[in-house]
Amino acid sequence: MTQKRILTGITTSGIPHLGNYVGAIRPAIQSALNGTDDAYFFLADLHALIKCHDPEALHASTKAIAATWLACGLDPERVVFYRQSDIVEIPELAWVLNCNCAKGLMNRAHAYKASVDINASLPDTDPDFGISMGLFSYPVLMAADILMFNATHVPVGRDQIQHLEMARDIAGTFNHRYCQPENPIFVLPEAMIDEDVPLLTGLDGRKMSKSYGNTIPLFSDNPQVDSEKALRKAIMRIVTNSQLPDEPKNPDDSVVFEIYKAFATPAEQAELRQRFATGIGWGEAKEVLFDKINSEIAPFRERYNQLMTNPTELEQILEMGAIKAHRDAQKRMEKVRKAIGIKPLAK
Ligand code: TRP
Repeated sequence: MTQKRILTGITTSGIPHLGNYVGAIRPAIQSALNGTDDAYFFLADLHALIKCHDPEALHASTKAIAATWLACGLDPERVVFYRQSDIVEIPELAWVLNCNCAKGLMNRAHAYKASVDINASLPDTDPDFGISMGLFSYPVLMAADILMFNATHVPVGRDQIQHLEMARDIAGTFNHRYCQPENPIFVLPEAMIDEDVPLLTGLDGRKMSKSYGNTIPLFSDNPQVDSEKALRKAIMRIVTNSQLPDEPKNPDDSVVFEIYKAFATPAEQAELRQRFATGIGWGEAKEVLFDKINSEIAPFRERYNQLMTNPTELEQILEMGAIKAHRDAQKRMEKVRKAIGIKPLAK
């Protein structure tokens, strides 16, 4: 049995919000803390380039995401934490995999097809309007991320299952073409979907997402703005109905309660449920929610601010991760090069 190796990437577009925290950051850090498996977490900045052409935004996002993960408790001694672009072998492997991946496989990718469908619904629009080669071959770069480190398990959202299947497909093609059956170069990775991870609703009642502008920030990205105040302000903006304070309210129909559930113990949830039934004002319910979230997040703020104002430390941590990842990547790439016939002409 090979050792289980977990690997996941975080695209560096955007600033982490509460939805990212409960859906990805907190569970990943928890499982890395509890587990004995090898874990690789990386900042997918080459992936970010696909949708973000604003250098300042990409750079700011990389910094904020790195600081957030570390402030929330990711231990860079235990987890290999690195920046994708620091491992130059990744784009090299992506090219090799591109040459071993049928174009037809990429034609079937959901993200690409969705863009083509939008174009098809518009008058006088080329089906490939606005679609870059980066977007088209996105799953190949993702396969390179995963196969480079022989990850066995990849924690991802449901939208990424197809990409994992493609990575398996590409790995299989390569192994079949270039390796002895008993000595494959690549491990076929499996998607790991956590069913318990809550999906948060945003301030306006739609799914919490940067693209809707309805998020609750985890930390303030502006050092001039006090994070605690920003959190309270955002929570007070959650849309509620017009029921009066003493009217009984349905907790299962409330964004305030839904977010509370992602932070509170079952006993605390039962208690708030009871207060909803007997009547609690929305302002008061939001205060309860704010206190709950704040008690979990507040201890991380100092470290976050420290890392944001001292990016030298952040950079050093990422460079340390890159050294570890790079060692591994070089070894695997050496095997790949040899297998495909790219090797010195003389010893
Ligand atoms: N595509 C992933 C996302 O958008 C990010 C990602 C890039 C990733 N490379 C990866 C996830 C490799 C897991 C493994 O969420």
